[in-house]
Amino acid sequence: MTVRSKLYEGKAKILYATDDPAVLLTYFKDDATAFNAQKRGSIEGKGSFNCAIASHLFKQLEASGIATHFIEQTSANEMRVQAVNIVPLEVVVRNIAAGSLCQQTGLSLGTVLHQPLVEFYYKNDALGDPLLTLDRLLLLALATAEQVTQLRAMALKINDVLKPFFLQCGITLVDFKLEFGLDQQQRLILADEISPDTCRLWNQTDDDPKQRVMDKDRFRHDLGDVALAYQQVMERVLQHTL
Ligand code: TMP
Ligand code: ASP
Repeated sequence: MTVRSKLYEGKAKILYATDDPAVLLTYFKDDATAFNAQKRGSIEGKGSFNCAIASHLFKQLEASGIATHFIEQTSANEMRVQAVNIVPLEVVVRNIAAGSLCQQTGLSLGTVLHQPLVEFYYKNDALGDPLLTLDRLLLLALATAEQVTQLRAMALKINDVLKPFFLQCGITLVDFKLEFGLDQQQRLILADEISPDTCRLWNQTDDDPKQRVMDKDRFRHDLGDVALAYQQVMERVLQHTL
């Protein structure tokens, strides 16, 4: 039996080293947190649902020419990924107003944005992942101006792939959060995960603002049937390719 060394344990995933220093193993947990870990719980099966969803989405993105850290799914809850240096930014893309955008701007929930909005948040739990301005991002040297331009372009390209993909699945991609890393050649590649933990996904056949939610908002706002929603996303996602 190989003894795996744990490199890092986050709120929803564990990263392990492998025999190859360029490759890491990501284990997806059932643990769920919200509101900067003030709310904690567990969603039965979430780890395997998210691992399958993220693996499939990474494959679709790779096929569309977007470089990701994904190598292969190795078991229900595990995937092999390229080791990268994570850029300490959470890049959020929004197509429809929801969540903090509504809270901070007064836009009504469900307002369709004329063009996708890209936002940068500081990935820093101690500070509560604050929204950054470009000048603050540069001041803190979280990325260079050139990298910011590239992150924006990559985020929009990912949206251009994922939006029609989810549409095929009968799901509206409301918004989502991305993380990027620098590979050994200092190239920016997509990292972390894309799953119902990191996206807002609305069932197109349901107009009811509570019923339609197929993502972590079911857990955040105690809407019930959280695992079922994640499972349904997985089933639909796995049935489609671009
Ligand atoms: P927000 O409306 O709360 O700012 O969230 C925007 C998107 O980012 C939404 O799809 C949920 C996702 N998200 C995360 O993946 N992690 C986080 O810590 C937060 C706050 C949001
Ligand atoms: N993942 C974040 C946390 O627990 C917040 C969220 O997704 O709402 O801290």
